[in-house]
Amino acid sequence: MDNIHPDFERIVSKERKEERLKQKAKVFWFTGLSGSGKSTIAEHFEKKLFAEGYFTQVLDGDNIRSGINGDLGFGMEDRVENIRRISEIAKLYKDTGIITLVSFISPTIEARQNAKEIIGTENFIEVFINTPLEVCEARDVKGLYKKARAGKIPDFSGISSPYEAPIKPNIEITTTSQSIDECVESLYNFAQPLITY
Ligand code: ADX
Repeated sequence: MDNIHPDFERIVSKERKEERLKQKAKVFWFTGLSGSGKSTIAEHFEKKLFAEGYFTQVLDGDNIRSGINGDLGFGMEDRVENIRRISEIAKLYKDTGIITLVSFISPTIEARQNAKEIIGTENFIEVFINTPLEVCEARDVKGLYKKARAGKIPDFSGISSPYEAPIKPNIEITTTSQSIDECVESLYNFAQPLITY
């Protein structure tokens, strides 16, 4: 028999999954420099959402770059491919009704624009973790800035590879003047109306 139905009619719709989960699925796309606090805030934000009854998933270097994107490096072409695959994965989670928190440097405006197009404008929430380079470098949690300055890591974001800050993010979080809890609180207050069923 001919397949006359497009895929979206053969699988249970996002709307019905959202109804089951009693939430609106969105992708919160965290962007910022290495060491800006993206993943820390995303992890705390997920715990808060989960405690409030929402169903969530975090995508970050730990579960993506070490797995499905393990073949990719940090040259610009690989970063673009990294972001493209992550966008497709985030879209699948979102279409399952899951509130998806994505935490990657995602260094260029173009790559994030592509992500927005893959995920869909109305479901893509850009969260800019605005921590200045000097602060990230002073924190140097993983010791990578020191190595990058010494020329031991090529193409390092903010040092020898570009980072383009968002011009009009949906929300901007400043980590220099607020605690993690305060960052999460303002994020939660912003997010709640968007994800409430
Ligand atoms: S992205 O540019 O492709 O979005 P991604 O968020 O996946 O980057 O990975 C960034 C993390 O990889 C950094 O936080 C850091 O721990 C590590 N890393 C290793 N090499 C580099 C590099 N050259 N530039 C930036 N981050 C790097």
